[in-house]
Amino acid sequence: MKWYRIPGIEDIDKPFIKKVKAGTISICLVGYKGEVFAVSATCPHQGFDLSLGSCENGKLICPVHNYSFDLQTGKGNYDYLKTYAVKIKDNIVYIGISSVWDDIKQVFSK
Ligand code: FES
Repeated sequence: MKWYRIPGIEDIDKPFIKKVKAGTISICLVGYKGEVFAVSATCPHQGFDLSLGSCENGKLICPVHNYSFDLQTGKGNYDYLKTYAVKIKDNIVYIGISSVWDDIKQVFSK
């Protein structure tokens, strides 16, 4: 897994929704109840930008058709949203992106 430093998140304890890049991948970074979550920035329904959505009861809500996705699992009403690993070190947010090989290794280690 490769970790990407995400600049510009000053206060991780305050709620926020922000679109960021980890390498070439667009991520919707969400600060919610003192935790930080990273999910795909693209709604799986019709591709809208989820960073323009809102957050309620631990779910990210798309502003177009109001589909909601669990911030921890990515599980939505009808579909899944890809989730990414997050770590915070010295008040700086890092997003972990696994490679195809990382994913294959995980499948065969089960
Ligand atoms: S585009 Fe997100 S719910 Fe339809």
